[in-house]
Amino acid sequence: NQPKNHILVIFGASGDLTYRKLVPAVFDLFDQGLLPEKFAILGLGRTDLGDTAFRDKMKEGIKQFALNKPDSEEKLNSYLEKLHYFSFDTKDPDEYCLLKGKLRELDEAYETEGNFIYYLATPPSMYEIIPAQLDEQGLSDESTGFKRLIVEKPFGYDLKTAQKLNKSLLTNFKEEQIYRIDHYLGKETVQNLLVTRFSNGIFEPLWNRNYIHHVEITGAENIGVGNRGGYYEGSGAMRDMIQNHLLLLVGLVAMEPPALIDSTNIRNEIAKVFHSLRPIQEKEVAQYAIRGQYIASNIKGKQVKGYREEEGVATDSRTETFAAIKLFIDNWRWADVPFYIRSGKMLPTRVTEIVIHFKATPHHLFADDESICKNYNQLVIRIQPDEGVLMKFGMKVPGAGFKVQNVNMDFHYSDLSETYLPSAYERLLLDCMLGDSTLYHRGDAVEAAWKFVDPILNAWKNDNSIPVHGYPAGTWGPDVSDDLIEQDDITWRYPCKNLANDGN
Ligand code: BG6
Repeated sequence: NQPKNHILVIFGASGDLTYRKLVPAVFDLFDQGLLPEKFAILGLGRTDLGDTAFRDKMKEGIKQFALNKPDSEEKLNSYLEKLHYFSFDTKDPDEYCLLKGKLRELDEAYETEGNFIYYLATPPSMYEIIPAQLDEQGLSDESTGFKRLIVEKPFGYDLKTAQKLNKSLLTNFKEEQIYRIDHYLGKETVQNLLVTRFSNGIFEPLWNRNYIHHVEITGAENIGVGNRGGYYEGSGAMRDMIQNHLLLLVGLVAMEPPALIDSTNIRNEIAKVFHSLRPIQEKEVAQYAIRGQYIASNIKGKQVKGYREEEGVATDSRTETFAAIKLFIDNWRWADVPFYIRSGKMLPTRVTEIVIHFKATPHHLFADDESICKNYNQLVIRIQPDEGVLMKFGMKVPGAGFKVQNVNMDFHYSDLSETYLPSAYERLLLDCMLGDSTLYHRGDAVEAAWKFVDPILNAWKNDNSIPVHGYPAGTWGPDVSDDLIEQDDITWRYPCKNLANDGN
């Protein structure tokens, strides 16, 4: 199944995303022979570069970031020849006419039959202007070849702006032409959630409120905001990670089996989960959501800055770098099963995992069974790193009596040895080239996710009595996030200990 000949048009081609992710990912596709015979990339950006300077820059990016390192200069050069650059001011409507001319020229040269993919790797402020101008020039019209539009997150800043963005996109392109990219959906292990759930007879019968006690989802990072302080100040953990990536994981864990593995069916089921999220009212936020911000600490003898000392961050910032929520899904399968989700920067390790905690046996038969049962059987689905699946259950300790101990059954993705794990962008770009939007977000689901997080964000913005709890960098967030779960007589799973010497 090979994509049709086409041109990939990247808006924002002088930026980091193009350099680190997009052009290297397309090189990986090229290297595996997955690109169509006739293919070109047109990079658009304000920086004044010619084809040669653009190619030279991209060459460095490929050498550094492609998964398949180019094994010969010749191969690399034959890819680079397909790259073109056009200096272009996206804000200036007059320039779209010139772009049309440039595209016509390349389309003829490459015989791509009017098939174009537009990738918006620009700041979100451009997301309404570019599609509108493309439409104005007739460049969204599919009567001459396909026209697809890839939009990077953030899809809006809140429900209102997401609705406005969707409305605007839909006046210029049809929903089937719009590909809202979330790189989490491109991760192999995220896709594997569907396979784990729907191809194993042992899990599906247990996957409901009768057998599952609670679900825990962690998206932890051990780095700070780096040089993205300016962006992050206006975002925070809730917008940056939870509204999109972590809620997506909730959707995949909680969804009903789709009738078919295709774009409509899978995305319908995810949207249904989002629509079933029990709303957290603004006045309940303090009870269900915690926010925190990392403060300076000492990690393994090294002094680490606090968030407020980072570049581009206000010294009295109230932006959360950590958030934890307890949520419920009000539907037949999940009624009253709590989902605890948390995400943060500067935590002790980088790990994304989902833990399904099964209910304990109805009666404690063995003397010290109770404490073991408190841990319950757990299925740990490790999204990254060390991708894999871990099952925890009680076994008899050899010797006298019936002493029970928790043991692990552990599968590592790396055991599938030679298997090549494509990068998220590689997989998603190929899908878009093939016209398959299964692994892209649909507008209604995005809005439903915003609808859920909006009251939390509003309360955090408007109610100064809700604290932003400091937590020393290198620890698992503020103590109160432990209280959020411990009040239900359970604890978070800690994949590793706190690192900070002065941690909690
Ligand atoms: C991005 C966020 O969407 O996801 C970043 O903007 C975050 O702040 C990143 O670091 C995490 O992605 P991953 O793939 O490293 O888990």
